Amino acid sequence: MTRHFLRDDDLSPAEQSAVLDLAARMKADRFGHRPLVGPRSVAVLFDKQSLRTRISFDAGIAELGGHPLVVDTQVTHFGRGESLADAGRVLSRYVAAIVLRTHGDERIAEVAAGASVPVINALTDGFHPCQLLADLLTIRERCGGTAGRTLAYVGDGANNMAQSYLLAGAMAGMHVRIGGPAGFAPDAAVVQRAAQIAADTGGSVRVVIDPAQAVRDADVLATDTWTSMGQESDGLDRITPFLPYQVNKELLGQAAPDAIVLHCLPAHRGEEITDEVLDGPQSAVFDQAENRLHAQKALLTFLLDPTTAGAATDEP
Ligand code: CP
Ligand code: NVA
Repeated sequence: MTRHFLRDDDLSPAEQSAVLDLAARMKADRFGHRPLVGPRSVAVLFDKQSLRTRISFDAGIAELGGHPLVVDTQVTHFGRGESLADAGRVLSRYVAAIVLRTHGDERIAEVAAGASVPVINALTDGFHPCQLLADLLTIRERCGGTAGRTLAYVGDGANNMAQSYLLAGAMAGMHVRIGGPAGFAPDAAVVQRAAQIAADTGGSVRVVIDPAQAVRDADVLATDTWTSMGQESDGLDRITPFLPYQVNKELLGQAAPDAIVLHCLPAHRGEEITDEVLDGPQSAVFDQAENRLHAQKALLTFLLDPTTAGAATDEP
């Protein structure tokens, strides 16, 4: 059965851990792993803008010995009515995997329904699972592990990052707290799924409105833009209700004294995070950005060459 990575929980907790182990090995020996030599091609498609995802997949696929095909979908038939399932079916005849950044999760599900090669979510409205692999790798590096640590995410609790923190954090055995204003809570089904995962991994999940309650004694303090791609003219006030959730020195002061700060970038400096925190000693943001490269190389290797990955696959 073709394995896709459309949501964080498309890996099992053991598989997530194996991918992160491999990512650490790949980071330590950056040019020593070439499972895609041949080269095997990977299509990397964008319905939305990107800097980090685009370049880290492009460079990472090349470093694995593969051939990246990075394409903005405006120049394809994606936007003018070609069936996405047909596109997935056709691309599967050319490439070893399809990486896609798009809008609604139903769009990537449709590509995956037609594809006979792995489809990887490079960000949808609902989830950003590749980013979470990088975040967890960073937490492992900075905090010595993930299990039992508390991760507080403050800001737009309804966006892709919040929902991926819930699922992937729970899978990694973390205590995940989401703090956001009323009306900006994650999807109830995602919270429920995360709670179910946490019950097995020893983690926990909590959604609160009070930012202080979210942040208190947290080991990791994370945030993201208050206006995600596609929400620029949704008619909602995306500044005023969010002001109490700004990651500044005062809010960070309520987390654990050695807490690290994460932001997937791009940051809107002075809105969801201050310069002082982003550039400060507790910020792990640029390691986090670098780790996209290593984590995605490990993910591709796991999906395309599980034997080399040395990872036990838990086929459902
Ligand atoms: N963090 C992230 O996904 O960045 P890009 O939008 O630049 O790819
Ligand atoms: N939540 C943000 C993440 C950007 C990487 C967005 O979807 O725009």
